[in-house]
Amino acid sequence: MKKTEKILVTGGAGYIGSHTVIELIEQGYTPVILDNFSNAHPSVIPLMEAIAGEPILMVQGDCNDSELLRNLFSEHDFSGVIHFAAFKAVGESVANPLKYYQNNLFSLIQLLRVMEEFKVTKLVFSSSCTVYGTPVGATKVDEQTQLGVPNSPYGWTKLMCEQILRDAVIANPKLQVIFLRYFNPIGAHPSGKIGEFPQGVPNNILPYMTQTASGILPQLTVYGNDYPTPDGTCIRDYIHVCDLADAHICALDYLSVPRELAVFNIGTGTGVSVLELIAAFEQATGKPLNWKFGPRRVGDVVKIYADAQSAAEKMNWKATRTVNDAVRDAWKWEQNRLANENRN
Ligand code: NAD
Ligand code: UD1
Repeated sequence: MKKTEKILVTGGAGYIGSHTVIELIEQGYTPVILDNFSNAHPSVIPLMEAIAGEPILMVQGDCNDSELLRNLFSEHDFSGVIHFAAFKAVGESVANPLKYYQNNLFSLIQLLRVMEEFKVTKLVFSSSCTVYGTPVGATKVDEQTQLGVPNSPYGWTKLMCEQILRDAVIANPKLQVIFLRYFNPIGAHPSGKIGEFPQGVPNNILPYMTQTASGILPQLTVYGNDYPTPDGTCIRDYIHVCDLADAHICALDYLSVPRELAVFNIGTGTGVSVLELIAAFEQATGKPLNWKFGPRRVGDVVKIYADAQSAAEKMNWKATRTVNDAVRDAWKWEQNRLANENRN
């Protein structure tokens, strides 16, 4: 793909999308964001523009709106699509599964129909390591690892979207699709201008830590200390969001020649325990974090991390940032965000 080309980025105002849009611009692409702001705030756009140093093309709207999609595809000659738009709150998906199946499946189906109509053939799809469920046997999973039973309706939407795409590619071999299975994205842009800002009390560990350290939340509870791991806490593959953003550029490069459907794990290849993450965070902030052990969280996978060799070999992508970089950047973002809130 030539780098001046236009890329539709659905969900491009969200956490991973916003970092990817910056990277696309830095690499010379012209991203066009489609986002309905269901889980992002319009104020992120000027912050992204401040980082990018140029205006960003942005359309407010819903991926389920086929008319709007058609207008967008008529107006712009897209050479590819990165599809981030989805709901992602695991707990909410258990409480309201239909909301998740409707948004996450239908938005993909509408998008595929309009892509076909306008003969746009390249798609990078945001998948998740949740499709492996609880891995049996080895906990370092490669892309051949048998897919598991996701632990939530959200997880099922990712597995189902993958299946929809597999079938769509069989029916239309011109369609070129990559699934990027993200492990645990954390961190923020090193400028501290954009980062993760979950609505309500965070479920994921790093935003919980930053909000505890800044005094918004009283204390972090570490879920379980009796797991069969070296320090008794669960192990994950935490990946810096900017490394994740880079993976999308590599995916577009990989699609610059005709390819069959490809699947890549996007992780660092290293497992980090909850206590190790806390230690890294305390080092980055220079102060102790208020935390305690609590009971295990229902449904938690004990240990999972990525074998990301395939992404390295086939699309020349490798994580280059450390967990220490990620917690440092997340903390910078939290402090900036609070300083801005206090000013306004
Ligand atoms: P996010 O919620 O921050 O971003 C998603 C964006 O999509 C939001 O800006 C939201 O407003 C928008 N959106 C949702 N539905 C839409 C629709 N119908 N039309 C238009 N816009 C819509 O989430 P994120 O963390 O940036 O995740 C991006 C993608 O990566 C999602 O598909 C998510 O499932 C996947 N993913 C995320 C993680 C993670 O831990 N963050 C892990 C694995 C996979
Ligand atoms: C989350 C998602 C999962 C997704 C994965 C990768 C949930 C429930 N699951 O899971 O669908 O595929 O990210 O993006 O959101 N922890 C604490 N205290 C806390 C929060 C978390 O100890 O307050 C621990 C957890 O037990 C876990 C680790 O921190 O061991 C990471 O938790 P989290 O950030 O929620 O990610 P995942 O459990 O991997």
